[in-house]
Amino acid sequence: MDWIQLALRFTHVVFGVFWAGTIFFVVSFLLPAVRKAGPDGGKVMYQLIQGPFPSALPSAAALTILSGLAMFFYPANRMASGFMGETQGIVLSTGALLAIIAFAIGMTIQRPSSLAVAALQGEIQAAGGAPTAAQSERMAALQARVALSLRWISILLGLAVAAMGTWRYF
Ligand code: HEM
Repeated sequence: MDWIQLALRFTHVVFGVFWAGTIFFVVSFLLPAVRKAGPDGGKVMYQLIQGPFPSALPSAAALTILSGLAMFFYPANRMASGFMGETQGIVLSTGALLAIIAFAIGMTIQRPSSLAVAALQGEIQAAGGAPTAAQSERMAALQARVALSLRWISILLGLAVAAMGTWRYF
C-alpha cells in the first residue's frame, strides 16, 4: 500500500469537503437566515467571528491546497508522462486553479471584511447597541462586500469540486 498517497488523499478530501461544504452552508442557509433575523442575526455573526471560525476555514483550505499540490507531483511520473496536456490533466488543474482563486478571494477580500464587520459590531455594542448613521452605512457596505465575495467563492469552489469529482472520466 502507498501510505504517502493515502495520507495525501485523506487530508485532501477531508479538508476539501469541510472547506467547500462550510462555504456552501454559509452562502445557502446561514447568511439568508441571519439577514432575516435582523439585529439578532448580527449578534450571531459577531459570536461566530469571535470563535475559531475565521482561522479554521483558511487552515482547512491551506491543507487542501498543499495536499493537492503535493498530489500533482506524487507520484512524479504523472507530471513526466504529459498528463497535464491531456483532457484529464486540464480538467484537474483548472479545478485546482479555481479553488486557489477562491482561497485568494477569501484571504484578501472576504476574511478582512468579515473581521471588519465584527470589529464594527463590537464598537456598536460597546456604545450601547444603537449604530450611528455612519456606522450603519459602513456596516451595510462591509456586509455587501462579504456577501458578494462569498458568492464568488462558492461558485468557484462549486466548479472546483465538480472538476475534482469528474476529471478521471474525461
Ligand atoms: C474545495 C476544494 C477541493 C476539493 C473539495 C477537492 C476534492 C478532491 C477529490 C474528492 C479528489 C478525488 C478525485 C478522484 O479520486 O477522482 C481530488 C483529487 C485531486 N485534487 Fe482536489 N479538491 C479540491 C481542491 C484542490 C486543489 C486546490 C488542488 C491543487 C492545488 C487539488 C489537487 C488535486 C489532485 C492533484 C487530485 C488527484 C489525486 C489523484 O487521484 O492522484 N485539489 N480532489
